[in-house]
Amino acid sequence: MSNVILKASNIYRDYVTKGSMFKKTDVVQALKGISFDVIEGETLAVVGESGCGKSTLARILTLIDAQTAGELEIEGTDININVQKPTSEMRQRVQIVFQNPYGSLNPRQKVGEILEEPLVINTNMRSDERRKLAMEMLAKVGLEPVHYGRYPHMFSGGQRQRIAIARALILRPKILVLDEPVSALDLSVQAQILNLLADLQDEFNLSYIFISHDLSVVKYIADRVMVMYFGEIVEQNTREEIFTNPQHDYTKTLLAATPRATVESIKKRLGVA
Ligand SMILES: Nc1ncnc2c1ncn2[C@@H]1O[C@H](COP(=O)(O)OP(=O)(O)O)[C@@H](O)[C@H]1O
Ligand SMILES: [Mg+2]
Repeated sequence: MSNVILKASNIYRDYVTKGSMFKKTDVVQALKGISFDVIEGETLAVVGESGCGKSTLARILTLIDAQTAGELEIEGTDININVQKPTSEMRQRVQIVFQNPYGSLNPRQKVGEILEEPLVINTNMRSDERRKLAMEMLAKVGLEPVHYGRYPHMFSGGQRQRIAIARALILRPKILVLDEPVSALDLSVQAQILNLLADLQDEFNLSYIFISHDLSVVKYIADRVMVMYFGEIVEQNTREEIFTNPQHDYTKTLLAATPRATVESIKKRLGVA
C-alpha cells in the first residue's frame, strides 16, 4: 500500500503588488489551482522553468507562506495557516533546504548553534542533549565533530549544503522540500550531495519534494515527476513515463532542451556507481 503523506488540492497563490499614484495595482497568479499527492518515502520532482511557481509552492508546502486558496493536508491533518497558526509539531513535519546554503545560514552563528537553533525553538532539550543530537547529525551528513565550532564561511559550497541538510533534518521531519538544492554546486559535488540525500532518505524514510530545472538530475533521483508551466501542472507521471513517453507539448520541449541521456550516462557523468 502506498501512503499519501502530503496532499495538495487546488492550491492558488496570488501576489498583489501595491500600486501607487503612477502605477496600477498588479496581481501575479503564481499558482493557478494545483493538485497533487506525495507518497511516503518517494521523491517527487517538480520541474519547470524559472518563474513558473516552484519556489512559491515550496514556501506554501513548508508553511512559510500561505496559499490564497486551496487545501493542504499533511500526514492526514488539514492545515491552513490563513486560519490557524501551525503548531510547532506541525512545522516540524516539513522542512526545507534552499538552493543557496550561504544565504540560508546565518554567517554569525557557528555550525553548532545553527543546528541547535530548531531544537531551542521547538523542544525543551537540555544543552547537552542538543549538542549530542547536533553531533550525531553532523556525522550523518558526512561532517566532522570539529566542524561544530566553525562558521559557515569556513566551508565549501557542498559542505554548507550538508550543514543546511543537517539543520533541516534535526527535528526529524517526514518530508523535505529541496528547492534547487544542488543547482549552485559543481557537478562532482552535486553527485556527492545527491548520494547523501539518497542515503538519508533510506535511513529516515523521508519523502522528498525535489525542485529542479535540471532534468538530468531529476532523471537520476526522481520516482515521479511533476511538470509545471506558468503556475499550472501540465503533466505528472512516473519518471519512466515522463522521460520515455511525455504527453504534453511543454514536457516535450523541456526534454528536447536537455541533452539526450540515459540514466546510465548520467550516473557516469555524475561519477556515481
Ligand atoms: N514575493 C513576491 N511578490 C510578487 N511576485 C512574486 C513574489 N514571489 C514570486 N513572485 C512571482 O511569482 C511567479 C513565480 O515565482 P517563483 O515561485 O519564484 O518561481 P520559480 O521558483 O519557479 O522560479 C513569478 O512570476 C514571480 O515573479
Ligand atoms: Mg525558485
